[in-house]
Amino acid sequence: MSILVTGGLGYIGSHTVNALIEAGYSVVVADNLSNSKAQVLDVLQQITNKNIPFYQIDVTDEQAVNDLFEKHPIEGVMHFAGYKAVGESVLQPLKYYQNNVLSTITLANACKQFQVKKFVFSSSATVYGDNEVPFKETMSLLPTTNPYGETKAMGERILKDWVNSDSSFAVSLLRYFNPIGAHPSGLLGESPNGIPNNLMPYVTQVAKGKLKELQVFGNDYPTSDGTGVRDYIHVMDLAEGHVAALQHVTPGVHIYNLGTGAGTSVFEIIQTFERVNAIKIPYKIVNRRPGDLAFYYADATKAKDELGWYAKRTLEDMCRDAWHFEKSLNLIQIK
Ligand code: NAD
Ligand code: UFG
Repeated sequence: MSILVTGGLGYIGSHTVNALIEAGYSVVVADNLSNSKAQVLDVLQQITNKNIPFYQIDVTDEQAVNDLFEKHPIEGVMHFAGYKAVGESVLQPLKYYQNNVLSTITLANACKQFQVKKFVFSSSATVYGDNEVPFKETMSLLPTTNPYGETKAMGERILKDWVNSDSSFAVSLLRYFNPIGAHPSGLLGESPNGIPNNLMPYVTQVAKGKLKELQVFGNDYPTSDGTGVRDYIHVMDLAEGHVAALQHVTPGVHIYNLGTGAGTSVFEIIQTFERVNAIKIPYKIVNRRPGDLAFYYADATKAKDELGWYAKRTLEDMCRDAWHFEKSLNLIQIK
């Protein structure tokens, strides 16, 4: 029996494939390569020393998904596949609803048809909207500022309604905070197409000289130094959180924040990156980015209490590993 990892060649999915295999699971990957490269599969096979079955399919394609379930006995699904660029989702909302919502429905239907009982869903801290900080799993969801965030809230609701109709299914909704960093080998990491939207890939590209300077989106927030505060989590910790969620999932719906519980400002990221990597990051302060919240971080106690999982790696590890990966991209042209 295998775990089907959709989006398994993407940033978080690839690290999770590695973590699952390390934990002794067999894995099947489905990815349409819309935001990843086939070479990531080679890297994963090299790191894990395992042959990983791969299907280049679109997981909104019912026939293709059903064919995969026919071929492989699947024990559980980890659903990472989706689009994730917040700004693009405002410009192309239908593309986001179509991909992110339809993929979840298609996979849930396949699970129903093939009696696959375990489902782990990539949700996001964005579903909390501007709730009080720290965000707790018991809070009501508030509207997000963009279609991407709404697709995640919808995905959660769809899966909850599904389990309400048949309580034999076991679903884990994982709300990620801000994953950064990379596999310590420097072989897996985040390499966005075009100009990065997110802070850490922007920082590493400035460090490399690909981009001139970082733009800090606002220094007038009500935070300790005026810059935005987030709960950054090492992607390796996040990946291990998925394994813990899968190991503990029982019938019903279970929601977990995957974060560290600590907030870090943009200036703190810059300073830590500069210190651990001995590189200067030129930056300038610009206007706030529309839609950004001032600060948020997780209440991470539920995952620790129920899954026995907590984030172990430090901000220093995140900055060091992110830079190691960016430097390695010179040598290996992969995602
Ligand atoms: P990513 O873009 O690196 O990975 C997503 C993968 O899914 C890519 O390899 C892409 O090719 C694939 N894909 C997209 N649509 C597909 C489809 N219809 N069929 C098959 N494959 C498809 O993104 P990521 O950062 O690894 O994020 C993974 C998941 O986690 C996403 O659902 C994202 O919304 C969610 N998430 C990410 C973050 C973050 O900051 N990275 C935060 C919260 C939630
Ligand atoms: N920032 C900058 N300059 C940049 C990029 C970001 O100053 O070039 C700042 C932002 O204003 C924010 C912080 O750095 O204060 C983090 O921004 P990111 O874009 O890296 O991350 P976000 O918190 O905005 O959003 C990310 C994902 C969302 C996801 C959310 C979950 O992009 O998809 O985390 O918490 F929903």
